[in-house]
Amino acid sequence: MSYIKCLYCRECGREYPVAPEHVCEFCFGPLEVGYDYEAIKKVISKDKIQKGPLSIWRYEDLLPVTRDSGIDMGTGFTPLVKAENLGKTLGLNNLYIKNDSTNPTFSFKDRVVSVATNKALEFGFETLACASTGNLAGSVSAHGAKAKMDTKVFFPSDLEQGKILGAAIYGSTLVAVDGTYDEVNRLCSELADNHRWAFVNVNMRPYYSEGSKTLGYEVAEQLGWRAPDRCIVPAASGSLFTKIWKGLNELKDLGLLESVNTFMDLAQPDGCSPIVEAFEQGTYHVKPVKPETIAKSLAIGNPADGFYALKTIAETKGNAVRVPEPEVAECMKLLAETEGIFTETAGGVVISALRSLAKRGIISADEVVVAFVTGNGLKTVEVIEDAADPVFTNPDYKSFQDALNVWNKRSL
Ligand SMILES: Cc1ncc(COP(=O)(O)O)c(C=O)c1O
Ligand SMILES: [Zn+2]
Repeated sequence: MSYIKCLYCRECGREYPVAPEHVCEFCFGPLEVGYDYEAIKKVISKDKIQKGPLSIWRYEDLLPVTRDSGIDMGTGFTPLVKAENLGKTLGLNNLYIKNDSTNPTFSFKDRVVSVATNKALEFGFETLACASTGNLAGSVSAHGAKAKMDTKVFFPSDLEQGKILGAAIYGSTLVAVDGTYDEVNRLCSELADNHRWAFVNVNMRPYYSEGSKTLGYEVAEQLGWRAPDRCIVPAASGSLFTKIWKGLNELKDLGLLESVNTFMDLAQPDGCSPIVEAFEQGTYHVKPVKPETIAKSLAIGNPADGFYALKTIAETKGNAVRVPEPEVAECMKLLAETEGIFTETAGGVVISALRSLAKRGIISADEVVVAFVTGNGLKTVEVIEDAADPVFTNPDYKSFQDALNVWNKRSL
């Protein structure tokens, strides 16, 4: 069962009934899910979780909806890989990659969308929708198909082909908007006010964002019920970042972790780094920017959770790292060549931030570090087009030997 109690305003604390609402009527603050933690404490245990399904639904007691209310795509419980090779390169002895690109639609968005879709079904919605920077469109389209809902996904028209096709294949209605993500989001907010559509990241946002907590739970469980010393997380709206932190703290408050002393480090690409900019200026006021980055999945110029992300960084004495644009593709290659993991641009941003923090001596050699790789590289092949440099040969032994010699000399 679900232990959801209410929605409450993150700013003024006013409580609201459980409904498809996301903004406080009194102060316009964002709404958050409130739980009956006393009741959860009585039923939850490491043993119960470990006996649960190998998916996000093993943490059902801590989510605002149950698996039984809707569909189960098998999202979550993705690999936590010890990155020995990359760790050696960077001088880190306990580096882990949380590889969330292995989810059903190849990004962490399946976590948030699984929760939001089930809640939308519980509320009786027939239409599922979203404002997307790319990955969300694919995930909402897949979940909508499985749930037999009418599905509409809105995104900036300049998205990568892999993202557009990765949504189109599921038969949803694609709406390519001639504008930035922030303009798409504004349009969707207006539509959500006037249609009975479940926009997963607009009117369903309080429930949707809770799905990201499962990344915090999983990492702690996979490390043998301990919190990492450091998390490095890519940020667009900043929601994922704050929810990983929330997840770790919930486990501690419920007695499943002894302590949480985690540095929370946030990564953004140079061409869209409003949260990093505020961090560097020493303010909690995030000034919106117009994104110009190859990491399109992170291209949110006006991040809804920027303020809370900055609070989390301050609370944990973490960092905010701005990644030079040319390092995004370079670090996608670095991760692929060292660990055999092909990530999209957001992963390149994270690995570049990790490398920068390691080089600057901010990470000490024995820290347990988790870098969150949140999406799959096949969706953003445009940025690594020069990576392919084959040995061209005729189909005979001698031609191959000659071609290989030429190729070897050239690459010296
Ligand atoms: C692959 C990937 N990683 C990270 C993020 C950042 O998520 P958030 O908006 O919760 O900060 C996104 C958002 O679209 C994404 O697609
Ligand atoms: Zn309020």
